[in-house]
Amino acid sequence: MRFLPTFLSLVAVSTAAPTNFFDDAYDFSEGLLDYYSKVSQHINRLRHSKTPVGCDAFKITLPSYASGLKAPDGLSPMYVAIGRGTQNYTCADSTSKSTPAAAGAVANLYNATCMAANFPDLLELIPNLIWNSSVPLDVSTFPRAKIQLPANVDLMGHHFFYDATTPEFNLNIAGGGQYGIAMTKKSGSIDAPSTATKGTYGAVAWLYLTATTGTVGKYKAVYRVDTASGSPPDTCEGQPAEFQMKYSANYYFFGN
Ligand SMILES: *[C@@H]1O[C@H](CO)[C@@H](O)[C@H](O)[C@H]1NC(C)=O
Ligand SMILES: *[C@@H]1O[C@H](CO)[C@@H](O)[C@H](O)[C@H]1NC(C)=O
Ligand SMILES: *[C@@H]1O[C@H](CO)[C@@H](O)[C@H](O)[C@H]1NC(C)=O
Repeated sequence: MRFLPTFLSLVAVSTAAPTNFFDDAYDFSEGLLDYYSKVSQHINRLRHSKTPVGCDAFKITLPSYASGLKAPDGLSPMYVAIGRGTQNYTCADSTSKSTPAAAGAVANLYNATCMAANFPDLLELIPNLIWNSSVPLDVSTFPRAKIQLPANVDLMGHHFFYDATTPEFNLNIAGGGQYGIAMTKKSGSIDAPSTATKGTYGAVAWLYLTATTGTVGKYKAVYRVDTASGSPPDTCEGQPAEFQMKYSANYYFFGN
């Protein structure tokens, strides 16, 4: 029995060790550890399975925390995208008296529909792993807009603002999928959960967006969930007139 305390402290040391050990091999992080341990559980669960996992969108459900937003009653899940880009802000001056104002966003959207249908526990971790990665933002052609991501996903479209109040999700890609356009307006918002990856100033809100004029296709609602980072500082102190905060989130598209 008297060896137990020593043994426990050794465990404590060795769980901390991989952080340094793997540094040269790849960007090891606690987040990746959690991610790969879940991947491993899925592999163990599925490796003797004879049934392909498939990709049925009807299996898709929103993360439970999104129940704080209006439910997609009567609508069907269509696609799920991982978004990675910037939230843009402006500052009237660079003093602590002014507050950053939201000024649109730009993001690449990657098709994670199959992942959402089969491995939602993995998908919800992805924004935390990629929000600060150095993915180029100007990827406009299909296919294989490679994202630094422990999953194979294809470019699905682009998110930007059509005008100051209209988030657009354009799923027509030069040389790739032509899946139409979800033109939206903000119809609901809840603070990101306290567990969200905050980055420098916090994670942007979870959103319920509804389709508006200009939509092409069956899109009726888009949810922004699993947000990581993207919030601005509380005040404009020391900020330039325009600045961007990197963010990532998952976007769930519903239609009829
Ligand atoms: C937002 O910032 C990006 C750079 O990340 C820029 O390309 C884009 O034009 C900006 N969009 C708006 C609406 O200001
Ligand atoms: C994000 O990346 C930048 C440079 O790429 C780095 O300086 C910064 O420390 C990173 N932030 C976090 C929270 O990982
Ligand atoms: C997303 O991927 C699924 C599975 O490959 C595919 O059926 C669907 O058409 C894709 N959606 C878009 C918008 O690219």
